[in-house]
Amino acid sequence: MRIGVLCSGGDAPGMNPCLRAIVRAGVKFGDEIVGICHGYRGLLEEEFWQGKGRGAEPDPIPLISAREVSGLTNRGGSFLNSSRCLEFQTEEGRLKAVAVLKKRHFDALITIGGNGTLSGAHELGQYWDGQIIGIPGTIDNDLRGTDYTIGFGTAVQTGIDAVDKLRDTAGSHDMMFLVEVMGRHCGDLAAFVALAGGCELVATPETVTDIPKLVESLKLFKERGKRSIIMVVAEGDEFGGANKIMAALKEAGAPFEMRTVVLGHLMRGGTPAPFDRIFATQLGCHAIDVLHEGKTDVMVGLVHGSLAESPLEEVVHSKECKAGSEEALMSLAARTSKLIDRLSV
Ligand code: F6P
Repeated sequence: MRIGVLCSGGDAPGMNPCLRAIVRAGVKFGDEIVGICHGYRGLLEEEFWQGKGRGAEPDPIPLISAREVSGLTNRGGSFLNSSRCLEFQTEEGRLKAVAVLKKRHFDALITIGGNGTLSGAHELGQYWDGQIIGIPGTIDNDLRGTDYTIGFGTAVQTGIDAVDKLRDTAGSHDMMFLVEVMGRHCGDLAAFVALAGGCELVATPETVTDIPKLVESLKLFKERGKRSIIMVVAEGDEFGGANKIMAALKEAGAPFEMRTVVLGHLMRGGTPAPFDRIFATQLGCHAIDVLHEGKTDVMVGLVHGSLAESPLEEVVHSKECKAGSEEALMSLAARTSKLIDRLSV
């Protein structure tokens, strides 16, 4: 079976161990694995990873060999590079991709990425009769159909490291820090960083950011002798991020000197944490198994702790939901935020 593999959208720590697993598990099956560079853009431009292996006639396309993915378990970023491709979002672009897939004799495509990548994979399946498998790779943990996404665990650790360091300064200067983490539509990253980092407050897209209530809490903290405060803010918080919240808190009379720190793209980098390495490896192997079982148009993931497949059509609606809505209140971010609230005395 000739299988193309690409990483698209924001890179996430763990994409590389996933690729390694796909290549090695595939090679063991006798598959030809073609690395497609720069995501969907590379597919449109036929930018294939120039591996030492060669595909069978009539199309001796370059293949990635098992040896060429050595040392990828501990490498952050995307070995195959990544991109966000606007052309692929058009029907014309998708038809062009199908033409390439047919011309180069692909039987299957594995796409590793987040919501945009998996939506693209599902759309492609409407035009192409090859098999398509999605693998959830994003630090945001914003996909349905999987408990976790590849990269989330490492990004949480990166956030915790930052919070731990900021706590030293917050404690030394009796200050409050608002630390903004990534997460466009989903507050899982913010809530996990806040809980694991022992932070006092958290703002997520799923929970309502109520400025007067926050100021009340801050005044109570002060009265009870708290000298340093750390609030984690998801970039997608409905109030508009850390800087906007800080301005509103100042205006409303918050009793602490405040600073913001926006972690941004720092959160996507770094050596994958053990969970991401293992999880990525499991998903990569599972993707190959699922292809050989003849399945298509599914995402492999972890559901209640077990490997499972979910239709791409169902997973591509990200976990985005209106702050405070019933669905939002059931979310992991909201449940985690509640725990933080319970400890805030
Ligand atoms: O989807 C992953 C993510 O890192 C989001 O958390 C963030 O909002 C976005 O990508 C940033 O995208 P870009 O790198 O295109 O600015």
